Amino acid sequence: MARKKIALIGAGNIGGTLAHLAAQKELGDIVLFDIAEGIPQGKALDLSQCGPVQGFDAAITGTNDYKDIEGADVIIVTAGVPRKPGMSRDDLLGINLKVMKAVGEGIKQYAPDAFVICITNPLDAMVWALREFSGLPHNKVVGMAGVLDSARFSTFLAWEFGVSVRDVTSFVLGGHGDTMVPVVEYSTVKGIPVPDLIKMGKSTQERIDAIVKRTANGGGEVVGLLKTGSAFYAPAASAIAMAESYLGDQKCVLPCAAYLDGQYGVDGLYVGVPVKIGKDGVEEVIEIELNEQAKAGLQVSIDAVKDLLTACKGIDSTLA
Ligand code: APR
Repeated sequence: MARKKIALIGAGNIGGTLAHLAAQKELGDIVLFDIAEGIPQGKALDLSQCGPVQGFDAAITGTNDYKDIEGADVIIVTAGVPRKPGMSRDDLLGINLKVMKAVGEGIKQYAPDAFVICITNPLDAMVWALREFSGLPHNKVVGMAGVLDSARFSTFLAWEFGVSVRDVTSFVLGGHGDTMVPVVEYSTVKGIPVPDLIKMGKSTQERIDAIVKRTANGGGEVVGLLKTGSAFYAPAASAIAMAESYLGDQKCVLPCAAYLDGQYGVDGLYVGVPVKIGKDGVEEVIEIELNEQAKAGLQVSIDAVKDLLTACKGIDSTLA
């Protein structure tokens, strides 16, 4: 069987980490694309030379030509600019929208059958715009946010309860931003819901509220420390989990920015919800029963995504 082809659009911090992870896991041959000349080629060469040391077999190449992504099975998009301290994800809108247009057209021409995972921020708007510009089916274009946001939530919960991260399952819905909705009721330690753990005296409501807040600001906290860019290790790991579910037809249930056409009462927007990812891309949007607080939080999130789309349409009239 021919090896799969993974194209990474954007060879910056996340792109390079994605290439390394994909090679280590031998997901397929890897093409790193960037507009910056030399960066994708240099990273590809450096990463290729990890192969003999780490014992992986993957052809890794760098390019500035979209033609080289031809026939890719999976495309992960990180092209664009990341946040600097003091910037919100929404501040990136104007610049990254133009980038999505170029990337979407490249995908449309050379890899229309790919499963596309968008990471570029502001995520919920960029994944929508990328889908519009590429013209791919909605189930084949998805945004990476919820896996990362719930990984952050799980990390903090594992620290709080002093347990292995393997025992923690956490749930985050909504937009990838300050309006995300970490759902405490569906977050568990080995199946025990967090509210029960509070009742058992393992934590307090105040401490869990603080963790929820820290999760929503999880990306900003990293930006504040790094000062020169935004998080890249955990975002890359999260997108790889989504790619693996697609390539292996694993049918994992993962929180992703997915296109909703009626689910959760939302029509025509990308919003963070649990979905099943398998060989057909997003195979199912899973609608869970939400309490009033989560419903209200999700609505705030949906309204924020709508505002971003209105702003996109104002910038690029072809989207209107
Ligand atoms: N086409 C291809 N690549 C581009 C384009 C373009 N039109 N414009 C910029 N790039 C490349 C840059 O040259 C750079 O190498 O995208 C890369 C981005 O890399 P970094 O600046 O290191 O950013 P990174 O940390 O990888 O984050 C990328 O993901 O999480 C989001 O907010 C983050 O939007 C940002 C994106």
